[in-house]
Amino acid sequence: METKNVSRRGFIKSAAALGVMAPAVPLINVRAQNAAKKIKVGLVGCGGRGTGALDNLMDAAKLVGVEIELLATADVFKDKAIKVGSAHGVPEAHCFDGFSGYKKLLELPVELVLLATAPTFRPVHFEAAAAAGKHVFIEKPVAVDPPGVRRVIAAGEVAKQKGLTVVAGTQRRHKAGYLQVARAVQDGLIGNIVGGRVSWCMGALWFKPREPGEDDAHYLVRNWTSFAGMSGDHIVEQHVHQLDVANWLIGRTPKQAVGFGGRARRQTGDQFDFFSVDYDYDNELHIHSMCRQINGTYGGVWEQFIGTKGTTMGGSNMRTFDGKKLELPEIKLPSDIEIVQEHVDLLNSLLQNQGLNGAQTVAYSTLTAIMGRIAAYTGELVRWSDLMEHQDSRFYNLTLTPVADDFEKGAVIAPPDDVMPVPGTDGGNKKNKKGKHA
Ligand SMILES: NC(=O)c1ccc[n+]([C@@H]2O[C@H](COP(=O)([O-])OP(=O)(O)OC[C@H]3O[C@@H](n4cnc5c(N)ncnc54)[C@H](O)[C@@H]3O)[C@@H](O)[C@H]2O)c1
Repeated sequence: METKNVSRRGFIKSAAALGVMAPAVPLINVRAQNAAKKIKVGLVGCGGRGTGALDNLMDAAKLVGVEIELLATADVFKDKAIKVGSAHGVPEAHCFDGFSGYKKLLELPVELVLLATAPTFRPVHFEAAAAAGKHVFIEKPVAVDPPGVRRVIAAGEVAKQKGLTVVAGTQRRHKAGYLQVARAVQDGLIGNIVGGRVSWCMGALWFKPREPGEDDAHYLVRNWTSFAGMSGDHIVEQHVHQLDVANWLIGRTPKQAVGFGGRARRQTGDQFDFFSVDYDYDNELHIHSMCRQINGTYGGVWEQFIGTKGTTMGGSNMRTFDGKKLELPEIKLPSDIEIVQEHVDLLNSLLQNQGLNGAQTVAYSTLTAIMGRIAAYTGELVRWSDLMEHQDSRFYNLTLTPVADDFEKGAVIAPPDDVMPVPGTDGGNKKNKKGKHA
């Protein structure tokens, strides 16, 4: 089976499992039940999102009525681990640094870990957290290559067997407007989805040039959004959000992808700065995906789906073909901030032993984006089965280097800056300086 189909019944079930349905217990009762409960937390990756996720968790805890105790932090850089830790009363001895700091954090009695490093480390960190029996908030994307995705799926199964909660940072699934649209689509308000288009186009993202004397490992960690081996490229790192919505609303993953992209103005690293990909979801259903990070160009972040009876744009707007606005089912959530609501869902699941587990779902969305990237880098048609089933496919074990293990062993060699994949040359394995033909 190439396409991962989710039946209508399965869709409803998995939607509920991902917090789509309103909580069964009124919040006021939940708060009373949870008073005096304390959850011990560890944060791995103390940068912008890790710090933000911790704040979001604190806000969610107030809504749910539970106390959060930050027990430990881990970051490659000691000062970053200490900065967040000391703001929450964590002793310096529990602010771990280096590439193996997460292991020491997991030895402590933390119940919940927030994983928010650069994506390449996620499979290893998630595997270790699940093995140690911790509940997990796992930031997207969850891997940069097919083997990494498969590791996350396997670790998700370990978490499931242990009844652990795993909530991913694909936050649209925790926003009332998107949940309303998802339910309306599921109820047939716009008929069957027959096509669509998704976009994340914007200006250039930040980048950090190498500091004088800086070693390869620390340069890659600081400048991670410029290297495909660290981030997955921006189709994976950023555009995964739209591809996640596509998989969610269509109820299955794509069968294959063809696409192209290029590098026009990036200054460091080896990534493309634009992609255009046709995703074939089988049964004649295609989604066009485009993403770009180039200053001075059109910007737009949205998802549009065309049904047999109407269309949906983003997380609130559904219309008939003659422009009549369709009324959406009502869904009210404790927080209208989706990055807080995802932690409300996480805490409710953890406290009520619901075992909410979004590992496979976010892994599939990550793989959808990776499939588009491989299609664009190589110029070839890439099938889902090449990445998930056919071990003789050269894409099945395609691994971007350096791998997480290289960092822990101190064996990191950074890919050269400004050298990129060239489609049509040995499956994209040959790389060339900008502008040269192989
Ligand atoms: N859901 C969202 O809306 C959203 C928004 C922004 C970022 N993100 C995701 O969050 C993740 C982090 O992004 P960010 O913006 O915080 O980046 P960042 O560079 O600000 O922070 C990453 C931190 O992780 C640390 N780190 C890297 N590798 C590590 C390792 N092996 N062990 C310990 N610490 C390590 C870095 O030193 C840095 O402090 C990325 O996956 C990104 O895609 C999600």
